[in-house]
Amino acid sequence: MEHLHLNPHLLNVPLYVAGKPIEEVQEEYGLTEVIKLASNENPLGMSALARAAFERALNEAHRYPAVGDRNLRRKLAGLYNTRHNATFTQDNFLTGNGIGDVLRMITESFIFDGGETVICSATFPLYRILTTQFGGKLVAVPHKNYYHDLPAMLDAITSDTRLVILCNPNNPTGTLISRDHVNEFMARVPPHVVVVFDESYYEIVEDPNYSNAIEFIHQGRDQVILLRGFSKVHGLASLRIGYALGTHAMIEYLHHAQLTFNTGDPVFYAAMAALDDQAHIDAVRQLIATEKHYLYEGLSELDLSFIPTAANFLLLVDLPRATKYIYEELLKRGVIVRVATGFGLPDAIRVSIGTHRENEKFLHALKDTLRSANGK
Ligand SMILES: Cc1ncc(COP(=O)(O)O)c(C=O)c1O
Repeated sequence: MEHLHLNPHLLNVPLYVAGKPIEEVQEEYGLTEVIKLASNENPLGMSALARAAFERALNEAHRYPAVGDRNLRRKLAGLYNTRHNATFTQDNFLTGNGIGDVLRMITESFIFDGGETVICSATFPLYRILTTQFGGKLVAVPHKNYYHDLPAMLDAITSDTRLVILCNPNNPTGTLISRDHVNEFMARVPPHVVVVFDESYYEIVEDPNYSNAIEFIHQGRDQVILLRGFSKVHGLASLRIGYALGTHAMIEYLHHAQLTFNTGDPVFYAAMAALDDQAHIDAVRQLIATEKHYLYEGLSELDLSFIPTAANFLLLVDLPRATKYIYEELLKRGVIVRVATGFGLPDAIRVSIGTHRENEKFLHALKDTLRSANGK
Protein backbone atom coordinates (compact mmCIF):
# COMPACT_ATOMS: atom_id res chain seq x y z
CA MET A 1 0.00 0.00 0.00
CA GLU A 2 2.96 2.36 0.57
CA HIS A 3 3.19 3.37 -3.11
CA LEU A 4 -0.49 4.25 -3.38
CA HIS A 5 -2.17 7.60 -2.87
CA LEU A 6 -4.48 7.04 0.08
CA ASN A 7 -7.23 9.47 1.02
CA PRO A 8 -6.08 10.98 4.36
CA HIS A 9 -9.69 11.75 5.32
CA LEU A 10 -10.62 8.08 5.13
CA LEU A 11 -7.71 7.10 7.34
CA ASN A 12 -9.28 9.27 10.07
CA VAL A 13 -12.64 7.55 9.88
CA PRO A 14 -13.65 5.54 12.92
CA LEU A 15 -15.08 2.27 11.60
CA TYR A 16 -18.76 1.73 12.39
CA VAL A 17 -19.25 -1.04 14.93
CA ALA A 18 -22.60 -2.67 14.27
CA GLY A 19 -24.60 -4.72 16.76
CA LYS A 20 -23.15 -8.25 17.06
CA PRO A 21 -24.97 -10.75 14.80
CA ILE A 22 -26.91 -13.64 16.40
CA GLU A 23 -24.99 -16.30 14.41
CA GLU A 24 -21.65 -15.01 15.70
CA VAL A 25 -22.74 -15.23 19.34
CA GLN A 26 -24.20 -18.70 18.79
CA GLU A 27 -20.87 -19.88 17.41
CA GLU A 28 -18.68 -18.13 19.98
CA TYR A 29 -20.62 -19.21 23.05
CA GLY A 30 -22.06 -22.50 21.78
CA LEU A 31 -25.62 -21.29 22.36
CA THR A 32 -28.72 -22.29 20.40
CA GLU A 33 -31.07 -19.55 21.54
CA VAL A 34 -29.70 -16.05 21.23
CA ILE A 35 -31.75 -12.85 21.12
CA LYS A 36 -30.56 -9.61 19.60
CA LEU A 37 -31.61 -6.37 21.25
CA ALA A 38 -28.68 -4.41 19.85
CA SER A 39 -29.79 -2.63 16.65
CA ASN A 40 -33.27 -1.25 17.35
CA GLU A 41 -34.83 -3.61 14.85
CA ASN A 42 -38.53 -4.35 14.58
CA PRO A 43 -39.39 -7.28 16.88
CA LEU A 44 -42.44 -8.24 14.76
CA GLY A 45 -40.59 -8.30 11.44
CA MET A 46 -41.92 -6.85 8.20
CA SER A 47 -45.56 -6.60 7.20
CA ALA A 48 -47.01 -9.53 5.24
CA LEU A 49 -48.20 -7.03 2.62
CA ALA A 50 -44.65 -5.73 2.17
CA ARG A 51 -43.30 -9.24 1.81
CA ALA A 52 -45.91 -10.10 -0.84
CA ALA A 53 -45.19 -6.90 -2.77
CA PHE A 54 -41.45 -7.60 -2.64
CA GLU A 55 -41.95 -11.13 -3.92
CA ARG A 56 -44.24 -9.97 -6.74
CA ALA A 57 -41.69 -7.41 -7.86
CA LEU A 58 -39.01 -10.10 -8.08
CA ASN A 59 -40.60 -11.11 -11.42
CA GLU A 60 -38.97 -8.01 -12.88
CA ALA A 61 -35.76 -8.18 -10.86
CA HIS A 62 -33.67 -8.95 -13.94
CA ARG A 63 -34.43 -5.41 -15.15
CA TYR A 64 -32.94 -2.20 -13.83
CA PRO A 65 -35.22 -0.27 -11.45
CA ALA A 66 -38.02 1.50 -13.35
CA VAL A 67 -40.82 3.52 -11.77
CA GLY A 68 -40.61 2.16 -8.22
CA ASP A 69 -38.73 5.21 -6.97
CA ARG A 70 -41.12 7.69 -8.58
CA ASN A 71 -44.16 5.76 -7.38
CA LEU A 72 -42.91 5.68 -3.81
CA ARG A 73 -42.19 9.41 -3.86
CA ARG A 74 -45.66 10.10 -5.28
CA LYS A 75 -47.20 7.96 -2.60
CA LEU A 76 -45.26 9.75 0.12
CA ALA A 77 -46.36 13.14 -1.22
CA GLY A 78 -50.01 12.05 -1.13
CA LEU A 79 -49.64 10.68 2.38
CA TYR A 80 -47.95 13.77 3.77
CA ASN A 81 -50.42 16.09 2.05
CA THR A 82 -53.33 14.29 3.71
CA ARG A 83 -51.62 14.09 7.07
CA HIS A 84 -50.32 17.68 7.17
CA ASN A 85 -52.73 19.49 4.88
CA ALA A 86 -49.71 20.28 2.69
CA THR A 87 -48.93 20.56 -1.01
CA PHE A 88 -45.81 18.43 -1.44
CA THR A 89 -45.03 16.68 -4.73
CA GLN A 90 -42.76 13.76 -5.60
CA ASP A 91 -39.99 16.33 -6.10
CA ASN A 92 -39.96 17.07 -2.39
CA PHE A 93 -38.61 13.55 -1.75
CA LEU A 94 -35.28 11.86 -2.32
CA THR A 95 -34.84 8.15 -1.69
CA GLY A 96 -31.69 6.34 -0.70
CA ASN A 97 -30.25 2.98 0.27
CA GLY A 98 -31.42 3.53 3.85
CA ILE A 99 -31.33 6.80 5.76
CA GLY A 100 -27.60 6.18 6.07
CA ASP A 101 -27.21 6.60 2.32
CA VAL A 102 -29.31 9.78 2.36
CA LEU A 103 -27.07 11.11 5.12
CA ARG A 104 -24.08 10.36 2.91
CA MET A 105 -25.61 12.36 0.06
CA ILE A 106 -26.27 15.29 2.38
CA THR A 107 -22.78 15.21 3.83
CA GLU A 108 -21.14 14.95 0.41
CA SER A 109 -23.28 17.86 -0.78
CA PHE A 110 -22.27 20.23 2.01
CA ILE A 111 -18.96 19.05 3.47
CA PHE A 112 -16.32 19.87 0.86
CA ASP A 113 -13.16 21.98 1.07
CA GLY A 114 -13.57 21.71 4.86
CA GLY A 115 -16.71 22.72 6.66
CA GLU A 116 -18.11 21.83 10.07
CA THR A 117 -20.94 19.63 11.28
CA VAL A 118 -22.47 20.37 14.67
CA ILE A 119 -23.98 17.43 16.54
CA CYS A 120 -24.79 16.36 20.09
CA SER A 121 -21.92 14.54 21.84
CA ALA A 122 -24.20 11.54 22.50
CA THR A 123 -25.76 10.61 19.20
CA PHE A 124 -25.78 8.33 16.15
CA PRO A 125 -22.16 7.61 15.07
CA LEU A 126 -22.75 7.88 11.34
CA TYR A 127 -22.82 11.70 11.49
CA ARG A 128 -19.25 11.73 12.77
CA ILE A 129 -18.10 9.04 10.35
CA LEU A 130 -19.49 10.79 7.26
CA THR A 131 -18.22 14.24 8.19
CA THR A 132 -14.74 12.80 8.71
CA GLN A 133 -14.91 10.85 5.43
CA PHE A 134 -15.58 14.02 3.50
CA GLY A 135 -12.81 15.94 5.24
CA GLY A 136 -14.99 18.05 7.51
CA LYS A 137 -14.60 18.98 11.14
CA LEU A 138 -16.97 17.56 13.69
CA VAL A 139 -18.16 19.81 16.51
CA ALA A 140 -19.74 17.64 19.21
CA VAL A 141 -21.64 19.74 21.76
CA PRO A 142 -21.94 18.04 25.18
CA HIS A 143 -25.38 16.63 25.87
CA LYS A 144 -27.39 18.17 28.68
CA ASN A 145 -28.64 15.40 30.90
CA TYR A 146 -28.91 13.16 27.80
CA TYR A 147 -30.83 15.78 25.79
CA HIS A 148 -29.55 17.91 22.90
CA ASP A 149 -28.36 21.25 24.32
CA LEU A 150 -29.86 23.39 21.58
CA PRO A 151 -28.73 26.83 22.87
CA ALA A 152 -25.16 25.50 23.15
CA MET A 153 -25.43 24.00 19.66
CA LEU A 154 -26.52 27.39 18.31
CA ASP A 155 -23.54 28.98 20.07
CA ALA A 156 -21.25 26.41 18.41
CA ILE A 157 -22.25 27.56 14.92
CA THR A 158 -19.55 29.50 13.09
CA SER A 159 -19.15 30.82 9.55
CA ASP A 160 -17.64 27.39 8.70
CA THR A 161 -20.69 25.45 9.89
CA ARG A 162 -22.46 23.70 7.04
CA LEU A 163 -24.63 21.15 8.84
CA VAL A 164 -26.38 20.79 12.17
CA ILE A 165 -27.80 17.31 12.65
CA LEU A 166 -30.56 16.87 15.21
CA CYS A 167 -31.49 13.29 15.93
CA ASN A 168 -35.09 13.26 17.12
CA PRO A 169 -35.77 11.09 19.04
CA ASN A 170 -32.10 10.78 19.72
CA ASN A 171 -30.27 7.49 19.34
CA PRO A 172 -29.02 6.22 21.85
CA THR A 173 -30.71 8.32 24.57
CA GLY A 174 -34.31 8.06 23.36
CA THR A 175 -34.86 11.72 24.29
CA LEU A 176 -37.10 14.03 22.29
CA ILE A 177 -36.72 17.57 21.01
CA SER A 178 -40.12 19.18 21.52
CA ARG A 179 -42.03 21.38 19.10
CA ASP A 180 -41.30 24.53 21.20
CA HIS A 181 -37.59 23.81 21.22
CA VAL A 182 -37.55 23.20 17.46
CA ASN A 183 -39.34 26.55 16.98
CA GLU A 184 -36.85 28.38 19.20
CA PHE A 185 -33.95 26.74 17.39
CA MET A 186 -35.30 27.55 13.93
CA ALA A 187 -35.92 31.18 14.93
CA ARG A 188 -32.25 31.61 15.77
CA VAL A 189 -30.33 29.37 13.36
CA PRO A 190 -28.42 31.40 10.74
CA PRO A 191 -29.47 30.97 7.09
CA HIS A 192 -26.14 29.52 5.87
CA VAL A 193 -26.58 26.34 7.93
CA VAL A 194 -28.44 23.21 6.79
CA VAL A 195 -30.51 21.74 9.62
CA VAL A 196 -31.05 18.00 9.29
CA PHE A 197 -33.75 16.42 11.43
CA ASP A 198 -33.09 12.68 11.60
CA GLU A 199 -36.50 11.26 12.49
CA SER A 200 -35.70 7.57 11.98
CA TYR A 201 -38.00 6.64 14.88
CA TYR A 202 -40.78 9.10 14.00
CA GLU A 203 -43.67 6.60 13.80
CA ILE A 204 -42.93 5.21 17.27
CA VAL A 205 -43.18 8.56 19.09
CA GLU A 206 -46.34 9.00 21.18
CA ASP A 207 -45.69 12.48 22.60
CA PRO A 208 -48.05 15.09 21.05
CA ASN A 209 -45.37 17.78 21.56
CA TYR A 210 -43.09 16.03 19.08
CA SER A 211 -41.24 18.09 16.48
CA ASN A 212 -42.95 20.02 13.72
CA ALA A 213 -39.86 20.29 11.53
CA ILE A 214 -41.93 19.45 8.47
CA GLU A 215 -43.75 22.80 8.72
CA PHE A 216 -40.54 24.67 7.95
CA ILE A 217 -40.14 22.75 4.70
CA HIS A 218 -43.73 23.44 3.79
CA GLN A 219 -43.06 27.13 4.42
CA GLY A 220 -40.22 26.91 1.87
CA ARG A 221 -37.16 26.99 4.15
CA ASP A 222 -34.48 25.45 1.87
CA GLN A 223 -32.14 24.92 4.82
CA VAL A 224 -34.32 22.23 6.47
CA ILE A 225 -34.12 18.52 5.62
CA LEU A 226 -36.19 15.83 7.27
CA LEU A 227 -35.12 12.16 7.23
CA ARG A 228 -37.44 9.24 7.69
CA GLY A 229 -37.14 5.58 6.88
CA PHE A 230 -38.39 2.05 6.73
CA SER A 231 -35.91 0.20 8.95
CA LYS A 232 -37.73 0.67 12.25
CA VAL A 233 -41.53 0.64 12.48
CA HIS A 234 -41.83 -0.89 9.00
CA GLY A 235 -39.27 -3.63 9.69
CA LEU A 236 -37.40 -3.38 6.37
CA ALA A 237 -33.92 -2.84 7.85
CA SER A 238 -32.18 -5.28 5.52
CA LEU A 239 -33.94 -4.08 2.37
CA ARG A 240 -32.22 -0.68 2.73
CA ILE A 241 -34.56 2.18 1.98
CA GLY A 242 -35.01 5.63 3.50
CA TYR A 243 -35.79 9.12 2.30
CA ALA A 244 -35.31 12.84 2.72
CA LEU A 245 -38.03 15.46 2.58
CA GLY A 246 -36.99 18.97 1.61
CA THR A 247 -37.89 21.89 -0.63
CA HIS A 248 -37.79 21.29 -4.39
CA ALA A 249 -34.56 23.29 -4.64
CA MET A 250 -32.83 21.34 -1.89
CA ILE A 251 -33.93 17.93 -3.17
CA GLU A 252 -32.84 18.79 -6.70
CA TYR A 253 -29.42 19.79 -5.37
CA LEU A 254 -29.05 16.58 -3.33
CA HIS A 255 -29.84 14.50 -6.43
CA HIS A 256 -26.33 15.39 -7.68
CA ALA A 257 -24.92 13.14 -4.94
CA GLN A 258 -27.29 10.23 -5.61
CA LEU A 259 -25.95 6.99 -7.03
CA THR A 260 -27.96 5.81 -10.03
CA PHE A 261 -30.07 2.77 -9.11
CA ASN A 262 -29.15 2.99 -5.45
CA THR A 263 -32.11 0.79 -4.50
CA GLY A 264 -34.04 -1.83 -6.43
CA ASP A 265 -37.70 -1.86 -7.43
CA PRO A 266 -38.67 -4.82 -5.18
CA VAL A 267 -37.57 -2.64 -2.27
CA PHE A 268 -39.63 0.36 -3.43
CA TYR A 269 -42.72 -1.85 -3.80
CA ALA A 270 -42.17 -3.38 -0.37
CA ALA A 271 -41.89 0.13 1.08
CA MET A 272 -45.14 1.26 -0.58
CA ALA A 273 -46.99 -1.79 0.73
CA ALA A 274 -45.53 -1.23 4.20
CA LEU A 275 -47.00 2.29 4.22
CA ASP A 276 -50.41 0.76 3.44
CA ASP A 277 -50.28 -1.79 6.25
CA GLN A 278 -51.68 0.37 9.04
CA ALA A 279 -52.63 -2.71 11.09
CA HIS A 280 -48.98 -3.79 11.19
CA ILE A 281 -47.78 -0.29 12.08
CA ASP A 282 -50.36 -0.12 14.89
CA ALA A 283 -49.32 -3.54 16.19
CA VAL A 284 -45.67 -2.49 16.35
CA ARG A 285 -46.50 0.80 18.06
CA GLN A 286 -48.72 -0.98 20.57
CA LEU A 287 -46.07 -3.58 21.35
CA ILE A 288 -43.40 -0.93 21.96
CA ALA A 289 -45.75 1.17 24.11
CA THR A 290 -46.67 -1.81 26.30
CA GLU A 291 -43.23 -3.39 26.51
CA LYS A 292 -41.55 -0.10 27.30
CA HIS A 293 -43.45 -0.01 30.60
CA TYR A 294 -42.73 -3.66 31.29
CA LEU A 295 -39.02 -2.89 30.95
CA TYR A 296 -39.29 0.28 33.06
CA GLU A 297 -40.80 -1.78 35.87
CA GLY A 298 -38.32 -4.63 35.55
CA LEU A 299 -35.33 -2.27 35.56
CA SER A 300 -36.70 -0.32 38.54
CA GLU A 301 -37.07 -3.58 40.45
CA LEU A 302 -33.39 -4.22 39.79
CA ASP A 303 -32.63 -0.70 41.08
CA LEU A 304 -31.18 0.34 37.73
CA SER A 305 -31.35 3.81 36.20
CA PHE A 306 -32.54 4.44 32.68
CA ILE A 307 -33.63 7.37 30.52
CA PRO A 308 -37.36 7.28 29.69
CA THR A 309 -37.58 6.76 25.95
CA ALA A 310 -39.62 8.09 23.05
CA ALA A 311 -38.29 5.37 20.74
CA ASN A 312 -37.94 1.56 20.62
CA PHE A 313 -34.81 1.37 22.76
CA LEU A 314 -33.74 2.24 26.28
CA LEU A 315 -30.51 3.64 27.65
CA LEU A 316 -29.26 2.22 30.95
CA VAL A 317 -27.05 4.67 32.82
CA ASP A 318 -25.09 4.85 36.10
CA LEU A 319 -24.67 1.10 36.03
CA PRO A 320 -23.33 -0.69 39.12
CA ARG A 321 -20.74 -2.64 37.07
CA ALA A 322 -18.51 -1.85 34.09
CA THR A 323 -20.51 -1.84 30.85
CA LYS A 324 -18.05 -4.25 29.22
CA TYR A 325 -18.58 -6.76 32.02
CA ILE A 326 -22.38 -6.54 31.80
CA TYR A 327 -22.29 -6.76 28.00
CA GLU A 328 -20.13 -9.88 28.04
CA GLU A 329 -22.09 -11.58 30.80
CA LEU A 330 -25.30 -10.96 28.88
CA LEU A 331 -23.72 -12.44 25.75
CA LYS A 332 -22.87 -15.60 27.69
CA ARG A 333 -26.56 -15.78 28.60
CA GLY A 334 -27.62 -15.39 24.96
CA VAL A 335 -28.63 -11.71 24.99
CA ILE A 336 -26.97 -9.16 22.68
CA VAL A 337 -27.19 -5.51 23.74
CA ARG A 338 -25.03 -2.53 22.83
CA VAL A 339 -22.46 -0.65 24.89
CA ALA A 340 -22.98 2.95 23.75
CA THR A 341 -19.26 3.73 23.28
CA GLY A 342 -19.59 4.55 19.58
CA PHE A 343 -22.46 6.86 20.51
CA GLY A 344 -20.29 8.89 22.90
CA LEU A 345 -21.50 7.16 26.08
CA PRO A 346 -19.06 4.37 27.05
CA ASP A 347 -20.65 4.04 30.50
CA ALA A 348 -24.14 3.37 29.18
CA ILE A 349 -25.83 0.35 27.63
CA ARG A 350 -28.55 0.58 25.01
CA VAL A 351 -31.13 -2.15 24.77
CA SER A 352 -33.75 -2.40 22.04
CA ILE A 353 -37.32 -3.16 23.04
CA GLY A 354 -38.16 -6.67 21.82
CA THR A 355 -41.12 -9.02 22.06
CA HIS A 356 -42.41 -9.74 25.56
CA ARG A 357 -40.52 -13.03 25.63
CA GLU A 358 -37.28 -11.35 24.57
CA ASN A 359 -37.66 -8.60 27.14
CA GLU A 360 -38.35 -11.18 29.82
CA LYS A 361 -35.22 -13.09 28.83
CA PHE A 362 -33.19 -9.86 28.88
CA LEU A 363 -34.40 -8.89 32.38
CA HIS A 364 -33.78 -12.38 33.64
CA ALA A 365 -30.24 -12.45 32.19
CA LEU A 366 -29.53 -8.99 33.59
CA LYS A 367 -30.71 -9.97 37.07
CA ASP A 368 -28.58 -13.09 36.92
CA THR A 369 -25.55 -11.07 35.76
CA LEU A 370 -25.86 -8.54 38.57
CA ARG A 371 -26.46 -11.26 41.15
CA SER A 372 -23.36 -13.19 40.08
CA ALA A 373 -21.33 -9.96 40.06
CA ASN A 374 -22.35 -9.43 43.68
CA GLY A 375 -21.20 -12.94 44.53
CA LYS A 376 -24.73 -14.12 45.47
C1 LIG B 1 -30.79 7.86 14.23
C2 LIG B 1 -30.59 6.94 13.11
N1 LIG B 1 -30.39 7.43 11.88
C3 LIG B 1 -30.22 6.62 10.81
C4 LIG B 1 -30.22 5.25 10.97
C5 LIG B 1 -29.98 4.41 9.77
O1 LIG B 1 -31.20 4.02 9.24
P1 LIG B 1 -31.30 3.19 7.89
O2 LIG B 1 -31.42 1.76 8.26
O3 LIG B 1 -32.54 3.72 7.23
O4 LIG B 1 -30.06 3.49 7.09
C6 LIG B 1 -30.43 4.69 12.23
C7 LIG B 1 -30.41 3.23 12.41
O5 LIG B 1 -30.29 2.70 13.47
C8 LIG B 1 -30.61 5.56 13.33
O6 LIG B 1 -30.79 5.09 14.56
